[in-house]
Amino acid sequence: MIIDGKKEAEIIRNEIKKEISVLKMKNNKIPSLAVILIGDYVPSQIYVKNKEKNAKEVGINSQIIKYPKTVSEKEVLNKIEELNKNINMSGILVQLPLPNQISKEKIINAIHPSKDVDGFHPVNVGNLSSGYESIIPCTPLGCLLLIKKIEPNLSGKHAVIIGRSNLNGKPMAQLLLKENCTVTIVHSKTNNLQSECLKADILVAAAGVPNLVKKDWIKKDVIVIDVGINKVGEKIIGDVNFDELKDKAKAITPVPGGVGPMTIACLLKNTLKCFKAHLT
Ligand code: GUN
Repeated sequence: MIIDGKKEAEIIRNEIKKEISVLKMKNNKIPSLAVILIGDYVPSQIYVKNKEKNAKEVGINSQIIKYPKTVSEKEVLNKIEELNKNINMSGILVQLPLPNQISKEKIINAIHPSKDVDGFHPVNVGNLSSGYESIIPCTPLGCLLLIKKIEPNLSGKHAVIIGRSNLNGKPMAQLLLKENCTVTIVHSKTNNLQSECLKADILVAAAGVPNLVKKDWIKKDVIVIDVGINKVGEKIIGDVNFDELKDKAKAITPVPGGVGPMTIACLLKNTLKCFKAHLT
């Protein structure tokens, strides 16, 4: 079975759109999202445009704030401070990667945790790993929603995650632990990737290595989620060899059209969540 991330994302967007229109009638307010884009890295420009388009479609007031790649850290921090104080701004996102003169850590720490739609602030990371209510990073949240669509009860399943990044691998592990999975994180220094992956009932590939996962790396009937977005020539391909795995896996996400649309849908979800938290 091929998992249709586009369709699932559309279902989520429609739910969000409905909820926003009800909230608008009740409160005469709509959610607002500020996206800070620094420099001219083309993939970031495409992602940000897509985020804005999707936000507008569901009734979120989205604003892109652009800076040249030479902007100072101070100027960006001042803007974040202004957005933190703005009671009409529900969420703030600073698109990564950042130019070298700007510290990712300082930027992430500057965003108020209640407006941190990426869920990257240490307060949100800590809340998630403690099992408390938190804002969850968009990509792993999107992956979890797709996995649960196939298998609502994950208790006791062995989940293997390839990649240990703060954006994907680590929060994915926390979410799957919360679902009572047995979780293994493997990474570039793991001794035998293949033998670890062969233990998986659920395999999440977020390594950033094109076609890393081969047919003989999985058991039969595994749920395979491919987070990879790798440009090879003119083509975008995932971390999983889709053609080899698609008939062996129980369910698998394609690239594109799998995790990508879910990431944006979850960003809208998080923006709505921040908006509602500020209403009360
Ligand atoms: N760059 C690539 N993915 C992401 C993401 O999820 N959030 C932000 N802020 N930047 C990114």
